[in-house]
Amino acid sequence: MTLKITILVGTMTGTAHLVAQELELAWGDDETQVETLLMEHADLSAFGREGVVLICTSTYGQGDVPDNAKALYAELQAKRPDLAALRYGVFGLGDRTYAETFNFGGRRFDELLAELGAQRIGERVQHDAASGILAEEAAAEWGAEWLKLAREATTHAA
Ligand SMILES: Cc1cc2nc3c(=O)[nH]c(=O)nc-3n(C[C@H](O)[C@H](O)[C@H](O)COP(=O)(O)O)c2cc1C
Repeated sequence: MTLKITILVGTMTGTAHLVAQELELAWGDDETQVETLLMEHADLSAFGREGVVLICTSTYGQGDVPDNAKALYAELQAKRPDLAALRYGVFGLGDRTYAETFNFGGRRFDELLAELGAQRIGERVQHDAASGILAEEAAAEWGAEWLKLAREATTHAA
């Protein structure tokens, strides 16, 4: 069965987009269909698509979601759709130098989606730009296991 994965990217300087591109390469096979959408081009229908969603977002300002993610985040908050059917993952990007707000961008989406009834697949990733490990490299390694979990989650749900 083909698994559809929609990656929603929240980014300011492109790192989260690199992560999504790396995952597209890693996951692109006959059994997996991946589509990456920059969040400024996404609306709430992105959460109602077939398959699973991966939120891939960095953190800016005072622990905020990036500018290109703000409208989508605000729409979720305002309209509060019932997302009980949604299975999602979160690959968050941040920097531990911002100790008080480390990885809050991914965390905000995670908390809001959970509030709306969606169920997360796997743990929320908190990439640390200060770690010296490139986010896209960390993603490629993490992605293999997450893909397995996503397949299990959707098989059980069917
Ligand atoms: C002005 C500025 C503010 C930031 N604020 C935070 C923050 O509050 N918390 C955090 O964990 N990371 C913060 N970061 C780090 C970024 O989220 C991190 O570098 C990330 O990898 C950038 O990804 P992007 O290129 O996809 O936007 C900040 C970076 C900048 C330049």
